[in-house]
Amino acid sequence: MSKLRVAVVGVGHLGQHHARIAASSPNALLAFVVDPDPTRGPEIAAKFGAPWAASLDQVLAEVDAVQIAAPTGFHHALGLQVLRAGKHLLMEKPLAATLDEAVDLLRALAVARAAQPGIVAQVGHLERFNPAVTALRERGFKPRFLEAVRVSPFPARSMEVDVVMDVMIHDLDLLRALVGRPVVEVEAVGIPVLTPYADLVNARLKFEGGAFATVTASRVARKKERTLRAFGDKEYASLDFATQKLELLRLVMGPDGPEVHPETATIEEGEPLRLEIEAFHAACLGRGTDGVTWEEGQEAMHVADLVQKAVAKSLAELGRA
Ligand SMILES: NC(=O)c1ccc[n+]([C@@H]2O[C@H](COP(=O)([O-])OP(=O)(O)OC[C@H]3O[C@@H](n4cnc5c(N)ncnc54)[C@H](O)[C@@H]3O)[C@@H](O)[C@H]2O)c1
Repeated sequence: MSKLRVAVVGVGHLGQHHARIAASSPNALLAFVVDPDPTRGPEIAAKFGAPWAASLDQVLAEVDAVQIAAPTGFHHALGLQVLRAGKHLLMEKPLAATLDEAVDLLRALAVARAAQPGIVAQVGHLERFNPAVTALRERGFKPRFLEAVRVSPFPARSMEVDVVMDVMIHDLDLLRALVGRPVVEVEAVGIPVLTPYADLVNARLKFEGGAFATVTASRVARKKERTLRAFGDKEYASLDFATQKLELLRLVMGPDGPEVHPETATIEEGEPLRLEIEAFHAACLGRGTDGVTWEEGQEAMHVADLVQKAVAKSLAELGRA
């Protein structure tokens, strides 16, 4: 196979970028744009030179891989459809709307792989492809305490899930990947402000082996911030996801005694979504192995589920559940 024939499903706020990137990927061909919206679907299809279809079943037989960027509530049903057809699949985060749905998708993946072992199934945890994150991981930084903050003004999208499944899930996945061990304990508080679901959540995670993290996610902030601070043994790191800046500070022995040495890492900027999607295309063609697996996506959902339960408990204590 020379180029992977790809369908992009759901071309709203994020999916339009999936279509743009698929259309210019060195390993792929944007074969179809799928979206039930009769205005939006054809508009994005025409923009990137692909035919439009209103539903996935019309095109599934004619593609090798599917990128799903439809609303989270549709991930489970669409994912099952793609797996039954035995196609490769990149699912936007979160893998599904609930942990039960994610578990069911993994079960369906196992069945599909029994017939076709080479099926690639990845999740769009794109911060893993942020060049600043890659630079931090390449340095072998061993965090013992981490602080992640991901806040923004009210987006008026993804209102069908809480802020945990909408945005905190990025950090829940990334923190586990950086620590390299599973989360064993979760405490969390949060409240609904503008939607029926929690819009502002603060969680404290304990990892196997003793590392800790605090994570804050909000969609009711005045400004945007996406940052991570990680503290290790005699070193700490400060990372800005948006500007792709990474600063490392280390305790070194100077001429007059110990001093903190700051270093701004040199980073080759890149679009995380493009890096993620091109890695997916390469993996489907057997030309690479990068990408966040569905097993990891499910693990992030498991932690998200624990955070949601802790938030529900805290709300019950407040008398607001
Ligand atoms: N990785 C990230 O950083 C990131 C950022 C934003 C959104 N997302 C995820 O992407 C997904 C979409 O979010 P969005 O903000 O782009 O939503 P959106 O509402 O802007 O767009 C969704 C699009 O999907 C279409 N759609 C609805 N039902 C469909 C179906 N059954 N089949 C195909 N298309 C359908 C809609 O017509 C719309 O065009 C969500 O799962 C969200 O969590 C991920």
